Amino acid sequence: MKILILYATTEGQTLKVARHVFDRLVEAGQAARLIAAVDAADLTPAGFEAAILAGSVHAGRYQTPLVDWARAQAVALRALPTLFLSVSLSVAGDDADDWEGLRNCVRAFGAETGWTPGRVEHVAGAFRFRDYDFFRYWAMRWIASARDEAVRPGRDKEYTDWGKLDAAVDDWMASVSGAVA
Ligand SMILES: Cc1cc2nc3c(=O)[nH]c(=O)nc-3n(C[C@H](O)[C@H](O)[C@H](O)COP(=O)(O)O)c2cc1C
Repeated sequence: MKILILYATTEGQTLKVARHVFDRLVEAGQAARLIAAVDAADLTPAGFEAAILAGSVHAGRYQTPLVDWARAQAVALRALPTLFLSVSLSVAGDDADDWEGLRNCVRAFGAETGWTPGRVEHVAGAFRFRDYDFFRYWAMRWIASARDEAVRPGRDKEYTDWGKLDAAVDDWMASVSGAVA
């Protein structure tokens, strides 16, 4: 199958997630294409049989290029099996308010773009201190110390559960293959 994987990243973790999914699909014999939303202004979903969009949450929002692309292509996306990978840190915890916040982010994304993903998978992201500017570094250091005492000051920490991601993608692919076949 021809599968589009379109992502937006701010510090790099969603690119790592998208690449991982790309590699898995290619290994499974699929014809996947990986592209950044910032480079996709002229790309449409035409010719693809399914699409995966991935973005990360920053202050309650996904990246503007991802939102803009999904809005521009909403009609075409509605006709395809789709999976939305929402990368965040809230999903790494079990705070009910944080989870409600994440659901609101997805709802707002749907309202803003006019596209409701066929399936949404919340993926735990990472603290990537090496990629933060000065202000983010100190803000995220404070957040890290408040949320997870196992985080060493200024040391990157990845929460992404690769096995869980693989299982979700495999499950979605099984449903898509069944629907398209
Ligand atoms: C400035 C900033 C704001 C963030 N805001 C949120 C947020 O509102 N909710 C959340 O769950 N995670 C938030 N995060 C965590 C990111 O979603 C997480 O670090 C993710 O891995 C970033 O993915 P990326 O590297 O692809 O941009 C924030 C991170 C930064 C640096």
